Amino acid sequence: MVNTIGVIGLGVMGGNIALNMAAKGEQVAVYNYTRDLTDQLMQNIEELPVSPYYELQDFVQSLETPRKIFLMVTAGKPVDSVIDSLIPLLEKGDVIMDGGNSHYKDTERRYDKLKAKGIGYLGIGISGGEIGALTGPSIMPGGDRDVYEKAAPILTKIAAQVGADPCCVYIGPKGAGHFVKMVHNGIEYADMQLIAEAYAFLRERLRLPIDEIAAIFETWNQGELKSYLIEITAEILRKKDDKTGKPLIDVILDKTGQKGTGKWTSIQAIDNGIPSSIITESLFARFLSSLKEERVAAEKVLAGPEKEERPMDKDLWIDFVKQALYMGKVCAYAQGFTQYKMTSELYGWDLPLKDIALIFRGGCIIRAEFLNLISKAFQQQPDLSNLLTAPFFTEKLKEYQTALRKVVCEGISSGMSLPCFSTSLSYYDGYRTGRSNANLLQAQRDYFGAHTYERTDMDGVFHTAWH
Ligand code: 6PG
Repeated sequence: MVNTIGVIGLGVMGGNIALNMAAKGEQVAVYNYTRDLTDQLMQNIEELPVSPYYELQDFVQSLETPRKIFLMVTAGKPVDSVIDSLIPLLEKGDVIMDGGNSHYKDTERRYDKLKAKGIGYLGIGISGGEIGALTGPSIMPGGDRDVYEKAAPILTKIAAQVGADPCCVYIGPKGAGHFVKMVHNGIEYADMQLIAEAYAFLRERLRLPIDEIAAIFETWNQGELKSYLIEITAEILRKKDDKTGKPLIDVILDKTGQKGTGKWTSIQAIDNGIPSSIITESLFARFLSSLKEERVAAEKVLAGPEKEERPMDKDLWIDFVKQALYMGKVCAYAQGFTQYKMTSELYGWDLPLKDIALIFRGGCIIRAEFLNLISKAFQQQPDLSNLLTAPFFTEKLKEYQTALRKVVCEGISSGMSLPCFSTSLSYYDGYRTGRSNANLLQAQRDYFGAHTYERTDMDGVFHTAWH
């Protein structure tokens, strides 16, 4: 049997990717370190052209050359050990693709190691979760373009399709693909936190019943906020717990986990002086949520504002929250695409920002209607410095900023924690402030550390003997 592609790692994502490839006409060889997952996958493949192998050597030998092997194994050392076991079995020109959430620096190290042996390596960001893997994810491949071209026919076939466009495009060299996926996840964190803050305002400040909030999200998903995360939020809020009959959301513990991709996004931004405050605040919100026991204890002793039952015009405030959420998302995506732009310039990657927005329109977790607008902004102004200054968004936020200010002020004065709503507003106001307070910091640094400063009225570097 000659197979056209092989998949190693048959967890949910790997198994679904294999089924997706087979459904699109590939002859797929599958292998897993333990045979249980292989057997489990083979139980429900029906007529699909999927062939199981229980010895790695047999798996490799079943592949047409140049071989294409797709890894879907846990990020970190497992990827390295699978690569090491494959190297002696492969020939020059063969290709290994890593579809896991690997750190882009690890991908670069693996790329170099395999390049030296004449083996191609693609670090591929895959977004869309287990359903996306099966029905069509957003695919972000990085590595050598000629190596990508070998895999492109399969990758574009299994990707989500928006109109006639596959949500898969060559991203750039070496670790660029995994980098774009990493920042995608950072944006995802921010998006999720903003939605959670909007929900909290509707639930706690407007005191709306949960079914009404679900209906509000369903309505928002018909308009400019249309997106996967808004859609699933409405569904989540509708879900009743089959054990108690209560809304399931009300019995889920409010401690958020994270597997690292959002954290890596913040670390990379901080390492490179990129203002990624909203994504970072969403990460800190997860860390703070983990201190559940401390929060429960602190609630009993830390005072908040006096509760005042002021009548609030429900429909007016629901619309304020909608506008605030939209503005927060624009600010978060502006920071995410700024991180793409600044990193692209730093590493000389020439990231295709317009195309990245296009492949985010389908398949991925942050897929949203307004990614068309983001792509259009970069299409009209390829050297756009920041999404906030794209004419469409400038006009939209001119209108929506009042709502974000009202929601932040009302929420904070009523004792709510709104880290991403408030950080979005601070970022927007900070970015549009031509003359800021940073001059005082420069003076302070020069006062105690003689770190010098520049002047507004003449070139040069100065120090003042302050004492
Ligand atoms: C995706 C998801 C996927 C995974 C996240 C979860 O794009 O398909 O982002 O990568 O579900 O990594 O991340 P956390 O566990 O860190 O929230």
